[in-house]
Amino acid sequence: MIPHARPSFDASFSQAVQAVVDSGYTACHTKAAQLEREICVRVGQDDAVAVDSGTSALMLAIRALSASNTIKKVGIPAYACASLLFAVRAAGCEAVCMDCNHDLRLDQDKAVAIAADLDALILVHPFGMLEPLVKESWPCPVIEDIAQAAGAMLDGQAVGSFGDVSIASFYATKPWGGAYGGMVMGDLEVCTEVRHMSNPDVTGFKQSYVGHHQLSDIHAALALVRLQCSKNEMQQRRQHMTWLDQRLPDRYVQSLSNRQFGSAYRYIIRAENNAETLIQHLRNHGIAASLPVQKPLNMATSDICDGAYQAWKDCISLPLLPTMSQHEYQQYERGLKVCFSC
Ligand SMILES: Cc1ncc(COP(=O)(O)O)c(C=O)c1O
Repeated sequence: MIPHARPSFDASFSQAVQAVVDSGYTACHTKAAQLEREICVRVGQDDAVAVDSGTSALMLAIRALSASNTIKKVGIPAYACASLLFAVRAAGCEAVCMDCNHDLRLDQDKAVAIAADLDALILVHPFGMLEPLVKESWPCPVIEDIAQAAGAMLDGQAVGSFGDVSIASFYATKPWGGAYGGMVMGDLEVCTEVRHMSNPDVTGFKQSYVGHHQLSDIHAALALVRLQCSKNEMQQRRQHMTWLDQRLPDRYVQSLSNRQFGSAYRYIIRAENNAETLIQHLRNHGIAASLPVQKPLNMATSDICDGAYQAWKDCISLPLLPTMSQHEYQQYERGLKVCFSC
């Protein structure tokens, strides 16, 4: 089976982990601090705090914003990872879902109408595609989520630099993936607040929320190595995208042309109402295609999001790997030929 995603770990990853273990200090924040500095520079925010996951990063970002604003309702894209919904709930807030367009980015008119009643907004670059709405001004603070688009540029500016606060994930399959981990990026005030909430040993009893959210130096070491190869891997995924473009019927290639911009994280096509059947067919032919999103998040709220519902029925994420063997290319091509009659 061609896997849906496959992070590669060469000897430099093992050496980086071994060096941390050999040092005898796996949780003293040396590597995590180095990762924070590197990401600050890459993203162009004032400060960054390494935490244990992207989901925690979202929850902590919302809680940090709550220190200076009343945050009750938080807008999230309906067609997105369930972590967003759970992070909002874990921050003690209510999630309000915003619908997507046919290209899976937010419907601007609907988002603007909803935002008037929100206290904060999470904007995602979906599946590595760029979300230009991060450039707009909003009536509430914006958390820019670059979990899937880390390393991408929008109008010559790094994603992650647009939000009032930004978050990243170091989950294994993400563009900056090591194993687990996340980052909150923002101004000194927000990041200080996040630090206080992330380490029970350095904070005061007055803090309303504190959890053990620090990133271990082993996880940070893995993410640091990934940062070094992430640009090259993005280029490799882009080449794989072109390979897929050349092998799929035009109507599938054109169904989501926006995927070519950003971090080339996922290769998504729309197969009018036929996602489940076609995914099964692809799997039967050795291609581990997958739903990009398990369920639209508005199924957990009372919001109506027809665009997200239709995306759920239509969309398929095809394996997009930085490297494949010759044998895998042949197997992938054979499977595509059968499933798409091309
Ligand atoms: C857009 C987005 N944000 C946040 C997260 C959460 O990241 P993590 O898995 O590190 O908790 C994910 C995870 O899949 C994601 O896709």
